[in-house]
Amino acid sequence: MSLTVNAKILGTGSYLPEKLLTNADLERLIDTTDAWIVERTGIRERHVAADNEFTSDLAKVAAERALQAAGLSANDVELIVLATTTPDRVFPSTACLLQNKLGMTNGAPAMDVQAVCSGFVYALSTANAFIRSGQVKTALVVGAETLTRITDYTDRGNCMLWGDGAGAVVLGATSTEAGIISTHLHADGRYEEMLFVEGGGTCGLGQSPKMRMQGNSVFKMAVNTLDAIVDETLQANGLSKSDIDWLVPHQANKRIIDATAKKLEMPTERVILTVAEHGNTSAASIPLALDVGVKDGRIQRGELLLMEAFGGGFTWGSALVRF
Ligand code: COA
Repeated sequence: MSLTVNAKILGTGSYLPEKLLTNADLERLIDTTDAWIVERTGIRERHVAADNEFTSDLAKVAAERALQAAGLSANDVELIVLATTTPDRVFPSTACLLQNKLGMTNGAPAMDVQAVCSGFVYALSTANAFIRSGQVKTALVVGAETLTRITDYTDRGNCMLWGDGAGAVVLGATSTEAGIISTHLHADGRYEEMLFVEGGGTCGLGQSPKMRMQGNSVFKMAVNTLDAIVDETLQANGLSKSDIDWLVPHQANKRIIDATAKKLEMPTERVILTVAEHGNTSAASIPLALDVGVKDGRIQRGELLLMEAFGGGFTWGSALVRF
């Protein structure tokens, strides 16, 4: 009888660039106040990549730390799935650039996943499928972003949100422990105009790419959609709200996270919150938050984690993980 193969998180890692952009800095750039930003978003500061740091550089440090935590070396990795919406180049993929920077020469497949802020959940789900189907035994899953490079610092309606950073997990095949229990992915492409990048890409050549957002509409869509994905995840696994030990959400906005925690009837102490210090780092925010919760000792082996995200596309999704 063949045993079920599960994908277990063997190690986590993250990296934040040194430079900080505080709300006080933004007060000097745009017509805003620290009090307004904190009240509407919960964000106090965000990290900004140095001029010579690119998404693959951030990803490299996070990946090395995750590999170290897993007790593996780069050439043990049989698959890289990297989620980003701010790739170094149109091609090669940032995953391939990362593979080279990690010194990998074993020919493991490497690919990017583009699902904006839901990217990490999409990447985790992809790597999980490779492991469960027996195609690989070890995968490196990374979320990495340099969003400040596509932020319009003249647009006070969204420039306070975005930050740079990277997070990574190493997955390993296991037949004895639960690991990733289920993932739930969705997209609805009808809402392009609510959240998109103007310029860049083949329809905006020669124009410097900048994020555009209808903040209020995105806010409402995010809250309602995350509400539904929480129900879907619990129902699919026959779980009740109280079974979840930790909510590890995409860090878009403190008010959006609070709404999901309320839905789950979870006290703030059971939510890993990094939005105040990291801002919204898109695909990097969940693995960054996960690593913070693991390294400070809050998240323990055997506990049940619910990760959820909503982002441009629109895309949304969740992952239920027995850590
Ligand atoms: N500082 C001060 N005032 C600001 C401001 C800023 N940075 N940005 C906007 N305002 C003003 C607006 O001009 C408006 O003024 P008016 O009433 O005189 O016209 C007022 O604040 C309210 O604007 P509104 O856009 O309705 O604010 P909001 O409460 O929706 O908050 C966001 C704006 C962006 C914080 C909020 O909509 C949000 O968080 N949306 C979700 C964004 C998100 O998470 N996106 C990523 C999803 S992955």
